[in-house]
Amino acid sequence: MSAFQKETVLSVRHWTDSLFSFTATRDPGFRFQNGQFAMIGLEVGGKPLMRAYSMASANHEEALEFFSIKVQDGPLTSRLQKIREGDIILVGRKATGTLITGNLIPGRRLLLLSTGTGLAPFASLIKDPDVYENCETIVLAHGCRQVSELAYGEHLVEDLRNHEFFGPLIRDKLVYYPTVTREPFRNRGRITDLIASNQLFEDIGQASLDIETDRIMLCGSPAMLEELHAMFAARGFVEGNHSQPGHFVIEKAFVER
Ligand code: A2P
Repeated sequence: MSAFQKETVLSVRHWTDSLFSFTATRDPGFRFQNGQFAMIGLEVGGKPLMRAYSMASANHEEALEFFSIKVQDGPLTSRLQKIREGDIILVGRKATGTLITGNLIPGRRLLLLSTGTGLAPFASLIKDPDVYENCETIVLAHGCRQVSELAYGEHLVEDLRNHEFFGPLIRDKLVYYPTVTREPFRNRGRITDLIASNQLFEDIGQASLDIETDRIMLCGSPAMLEELHAMFAARGFVEGNHSQPGHFVIEKAFVER
């Protein structure tokens, strides 16, 4: 049995010059936990060309969804950005990753902090009914350079607000906090600075960061992860993993350079 399953592209949506998302068929045997990633890619010259991608779809959904950057000279994304409905992609049979709720000590507020395509695993997690069951509040923060780069997340949250099952849960529990660094917007600045200054919590009208209540998941640029890791560690937060749950967990966004 090949390590990769062939799946058919069902839809593709281009959000900006550098961002797109797509859905694909899902093998019924492909199981994953919300927040995990798998290797996905294309056959190029008879060989699989694969990169790690977080599932942006939830594990109860029939189709798979991915959110990707486009890198013009990137070996995979220069090709992947051209896929169309009906094309074949390869999806690894094994999902893995640290951004799973089991790696966190139970808490009351879940902070999902992302930049760029680091939003993807959180798109999966905010469609997980257990997350709402286990937390009083979920804060989804997404930082981008430009307003246009927020579109995928804005649509995702809007769709959930209008969803028959998730709508009421989202209204009660999910706080969506998009922020932009390089042009005017209602929330401005880097997530690191917004947390360090407490501005993020003031803007959403909630209590400041508190190790007793807060559990955190981070996904984004390496520099953002490094700074937030240091900031949380300095406040006594412990990083969790598969063997030892903690107060926060980290995954880098799998950006192709
Ligand atoms: P900035 O515009 O100030 O660099 P990128 O497109 O480079 O991946 O960045 C996505 C978002 O992450 C941008 O808003 C960027 O802000 C922000 N960012 C970059 N580095 C950091 C960092 N060290 N901490 C927090 N946010 C960061």
